[in-house]
Amino acid sequence: MSGVERPSLDLVFVGHVDHGKSTLIGRLLHDTGAVSEDRVAAVRRASERRGRGVEWAFLLDALQAERDQGVTIDVSRIRFRTERRDCVIVDAPGHREFLRNMVTGAADADAALLVIDVVEGVREQTRRHAHLLSLMGISQVSVLVTKMDLAGFEEKAFRRVERDVRDFLERLGTTPGAVLPVSAASGDNIVAASAAMSWFGGDCVVSLLDRLEPRRPPRDLPLRLPVQDVHRFDDRRIVVGRIESGVLHAGDRLLFSPSGHTAGVRSIEAWSAPAPPVSADAGESTAIILDEDVFVERGEIASHAVAAPSLTDVFRARMFWLGRRTLTLGSELILRIGTARRRATLAAIERVVDSKSLTSRAAVEISRDDCAEVVLRTQGLVALDEARNNPRLGRFILVDDYRTAGGGTISMEGYPDQRQLVTMRSTNVALTKSHLDRAARWNRNGHKGGVLWLTGLSGAGKSTLALGAESRLFEAGIQVYVLDGDNVRHGLAANLGFSPEDRAENVRRVGEVAALFADAGFVVVASFISPYRSDRERARSAAANMSHEVYVRADLRPCEARDPKGLYKRARAGKIPDFTGISAPYEPPETPDLTIDTTAAEVDACVRELVDYARKAFRM
Ligand code: ADX
Repeated sequence: MSGVERPSLDLVFVGHVDHGKSTLIGRLLHDTGAVSEDRVAAVRRASERRGRGVEWAFLLDALQAERDQGVTIDVSRIRFRTERRDCVIVDAPGHREFLRNMVTGAADADAALLVIDVVEGVREQTRRHAHLLSLMGISQVSVLVTKMDLAGFEEKAFRRVERDVRDFLERLGTTPGAVLPVSAASGDNIVAASAAMSWFGGDCVVSLLDRLEPRRPPRDLPLRLPVQDVHRFDDRRIVVGRIESGVLHAGDRLLFSPSGHTAGVRSIEAWSAPAPPVSADAGESTAIILDEDVFVERGEIASHAVAAPSLTDVFRARMFWLGRRTLTLGSELILRIGTARRRATLAAIERVVDSKSLTSRAAVEISRDDCAEVVLRTQGLVALDEARNNPRLGRFILVDDYRTAGGGTISMEGYPDQRQLVTMRSTNVALTKSHLDRAARWNRNGHKGGVLWLTGLSGAGKSTLALGAESRLFEAGIQVYVLDGDNVRHGLAANLGFSPEDRAENVRRVGEVAALFADAGFVVVASFISPYRSDRERARSAAANMSHEVYVRADLRPCEARDPKGLYKRARAGKIPDFTGISAPYEPPETPDLTIDTTAAEVDACVRELVDYARKAFRM
């Protein structure tokens, strides 16, 4: 790699409007010799006409104008060099456009420079930009406190701003690489230490840039290759994409998610290399030929089978919103993760975070420029990583009205990886068919088999209802059996705990068992918290057309007041982790077949409601 000695550094300059970003960039370009003397002379003349000192910002305007006329080929990237680095400024004109660009493109920047006017200090956009940087996972941030000439190069003025900005960044979890006092107008601390600010000790912008490290493409993380395109030549499939993390070798076996297809890498293609490369690295765009004709499409992620990305249709996000419309529960969005595009709905708004104070509040809507902690539900499974494990695939972009309208980072806290639930591991197995059919069994019983699936919080009354209904139905001559969370967890699910994955597996097992019972002619009353919608849907489709969802509804407060097993108290005391309703999510059913509200009603009345429903539902 030729870049080893002179690594290239992608930079974003952010900061409050009028805090001197353009002037600083103009000065930097001039002082590092990145612009021709002709152009500088033109800027001098233009400045003189206005009767003030040289307006370095004009230099940017001039570059901008050229770009608009299409003179410069590279439209969005301004280049300059320091002694050790080739720098590229990823910048954009208008403020909102700038934010959008920052989200889409510059999120891949190696470092950000936050520009603050020493006179004005930390302002709203300063905070907002810093917040967005942290939400997009850009951690290499340095601060340039500019216009020091207007503060008489005084140390006190600088330290005041320095303290404020360090404070704020610290609350975002960001430690600035440096906080430098500079003056773009007078050129102090830009390419050389300023004599006027000898109190500062000699650091300057270019020596800071020389110190910054280009972000290494995460080679040591698991392989992630989002599929950009698939081409077909004869019987060959060529998969094209950029490796976001990890290393790919010829001969590797790849797993494509979410489809679950697998295929081997027959070869890695290269257009210019004399021989096909044996491997490709994070950061490289690559084309690979598969050894099997499997159906793979754009949007899937190729990985190795071990250390595959998570599969889910629900996750938590820290997001920001730049779109025009206000988002509320149920708002529909288009989500982009890697090369995948998915419809998504806003399933919960946990908090809206004020960018100014970083305090958060409960809210029912997300307005333009808000940052929020939310739960998003996608249509269909999507392959992703948590931001803390893989920054590249752990973030998403929101598209609204064909424009980038937001973005954020992903966490799966409280939600299960659904991969294990949808991956079929048994091979070489076939179905054995019984000589008896379902109708014969049901006829002998005089009623249909089926499942009443009771879901609700702990303490909502599921078990009480289930057992009450079981007795009454049994007396009425119905073959009935209760599967209950606490009981099943002594046997069938004895090896499972309460992590999201274990709960999902618990519900999967019970769903399958209930389906067998129903097929055998029984009415099963399944009583499980079953907090995740996707798990309940899977259980329901295991007993297709035989399952009825019953929402045993009681708000958290009455459940906690009842606390039949004393578990809420222990959970509140922090003694039970992942307790539903307290420290783990519960997703209420959206369209249950029956809702029984136990908050105020008598037990008997509730049991009757359930029994009446069952008698109708399972009548022959
Ligand atoms: S589920 O989430 O996997 O459906 P399930 O219904 O089987 O849960 O088990 C719930 C029962 O386990 C509760 O009634 C309670 O008695 C007990 N329990 C123990 N730990 C927890 C926990 N962390 N969250 C919820 N219930 C728990």
